[in-house]
Amino acid sequence: MSKFYITTPIYYVNARPHIGHAYTTIACDTIARRHRMLGDDTFFLTGTDEHGQKIERAAEAAAKTPQQYADEISSEFRQLWKRMGISNDDFIRTTEERHKKRVQELFRRIRDNGYIYQGTYTGQYCVYDELYVDGAQPGDPCPTCGRITETVHEENYFFKLSAFQDKLLEAYANPDFIRPETRRNEVISFVRSGLRDQSISRSVFSWGIPVPDDPKQVIYVWFDALANYITAIGYGSSHPGAQEAFKKYWPADVQMIGKEIVRFHCVYWPAFLMAANLPLPKAIVAHGWLLFEESKMSKSRGNIVRTETILDVLGADALRYFLLREVVFGQDGSFSFDALVQRYNSDLANGIGNLASRTLTMINRYFRGEVPYPSHAASRRPADDTIAKLAQKTIREFANFFDQFQFSRALETAWALVAAVDKYIVENEPWSLGEKQDEDSRSRLATVLYTSAEALRIVTALAHPVIPDATAKIWMQLGLGDIQKVALKELAWGQLHLGTRLGEVQPVFPRADKSAVERMQQMEDQQRTSVADEVKDTPSPAASTQASTKAQPIAPSVTNVTPDGKITIDDFAKIDLRVGVVKVAERVPKSDKLLRMEVDIGSEVRQVVAGIAEAYAPETLIGRKVVIVANLAPRKLRGLESNGMIVAASLEGSGRPVLAGFLEDVPPGARLK
Ligand code: ME8
Ligand code: MG
Repeated sequence: MSKFYITTPIYYVNARPHIGHAYTTIACDTIARRHRMLGDDTFFLTGTDEHGQKIERAAEAAAKTPQQYADEISSEFRQLWKRMGISNDDFIRTTEERHKKRVQELFRRIRDNGYIYQGTYTGQYCVYDELYVDGAQPGDPCPTCGRITETVHEENYFFKLSAFQDKLLEAYANPDFIRPETRRNEVISFVRSGLRDQSISRSVFSWGIPVPDDPKQVIYVWFDALANYITAIGYGSSHPGAQEAFKKYWPADVQMIGKEIVRFHCVYWPAFLMAANLPLPKAIVAHGWLLFEESKMSKSRGNIVRTETILDVLGADALRYFLLREVVFGQDGSFSFDALVQRYNSDLANGIGNLASRTLTMINRYFRGEVPYPSHAASRRPADDTIAKLAQKTIREFANFFDQFQFSRALETAWALVAAVDKYIVENEPWSLGEKQDEDSRSRLATVLYTSAEALRIVTALAHPVIPDATAKIWMQLGLGDIQKVALKELAWGQLHLGTRLGEVQPVFPRADKSAVERMQQMEDQQRTSVADEVKDTPSPAASTQASTKAQPIAPSVTNVTPDGKITIDDFAKIDLRVGVVKVAERVPKSDKLLRMEVDIGSEVRQVVAGIAEAYAPETLIGRKVVIVANLAPRKLRGLESNGMIVAASLEGSGRPVLAGFLEDVPPGARLK
């Protein structure tokens, strides 16, 4: 069993989490889940970056101590990841004791190795990016974020970055070290142009980890933050258990970041590690930005989208699938609610969701819920083998794309299999085969449904790391138990056994209607107006204490139709149609169309409001037998509660209603079926 260690950046606690943070975390979570399914001893780390001048100022603006402030926002990140089912094995906070001690240990070691010296720094600093801006003049903007830099003149500690130029270039020779290629090239040319020593402490504020043996200085926040990747797994601890964990998991296999922090991770971080004689991570993988309304989502632009909104309306799987399917990894990608709902409906509700429900419903109906087996060679057709071969190819291609971080292409491949099986089902018409009783039709039906179910099983296993909730449900519905026990390495065509008993079949992705988009937009607009007046990147006290507007989840309309578009007798039986006798009928004041009636349905007298006033005078209705839908959810019309619906034919053209009735005498309360 090999080990697999993956990390996200640790997020600043100066702002609340948004879907930009969720994007990196979801991508890492997906990779971690796949590695667990491959049997790797996996460790997935995320956390929060809580020191530095930027956080100190944000706390001050919120009239809180930095610790209070960090506690609150860090806990928002943790709760959000929990709510989303993020499978991180640890969550590190840089204000934890374990981290502080171990960072000091790292600092000491690098100093002992001769790479830290004292000096004076005079130059420009960007507090927003916590970045020393080399070569800038007072008043110059930060090249990264455009904010005006501040002039700093300090006695502090320097790291001999210049000593590592050649060694860094050697490390970059490995093409897998920095990905994608474009980032690697940028880093190489930056380092080739020469490296200056780097200040690694600050002395004008105190919100940080003290420099060992010089408590007037705090360690530069990026040194502190980058070290989390090793302190969390035990570096610098005297505990034998922690030391063992560090030995086992370091170096990291994948360190994922956004492209704006490439320099810190690909230049400073490896240089710090080299200076401490520690091995370098195997891969640093930078993705692009999630854009909203054409620009990078960020709190200061006021164009963030909160993750909670999407969770409330469509659920975590929808967001996970969308981000990994829609964004070409490494490039910038746009987010919009329209695109989200479109993807959700086309790929999840109508894609895998529909494939699961039609396949499993037919196995229930035609084989009493047991997976049939294609036993007769005569019942096989080339189309069956085409699906089997495509599924095998999908397993291979999915793995290749996924290992290259090309999530969208991996998913595209898997969903091509979904589309192929859909087409296969339509062409083979299992519902027609199911009508026939002869042996050939039965055995052909078995083959078609086995093939569909087996393809569904394979797509479900592959997609599990991306959409964990829904696939776990489909797996149960397939009668296969706990999906987390799947050994992905062994996944192959033909493993679904004859006679497997299906679980209870339920739709996993109900269709979302148009109102889902509006609802999400409204929720975000409300949120934005409460933070829009911020210019700086420090949240105002009002914004940071604002309770999130809890919205009602939308009940997406659930359609429960069979594969051929018909409903079952069981579905029809859900409608309670009864004979009723009209006892009272009168016009609803100020309404031309509505009548209020009291209808005796045997067991009780119901008030029903119906739009039939233009067709029937109220007095002609008294004593008349009508048909009413007795179990319709009550609703209010003109302030009157209507408990049921009167059944009428609607005449084409005029739309005039004609009440349904009986030629023979029937007692009130008799059921129509
Ligand atoms: O940089 N699109 O923290 P941070 C895509 N604390 N990804 C985004 C994003 C967007 N619009 N917005 C944020 C820091 N991210 C430091 C890191 S690590 C030792 C210290 C993601 O809160 C992306 O991963 O600014 C980005 O790199 C990270 O959040 C930055 O988070
Ligand atoms: Mg940032």
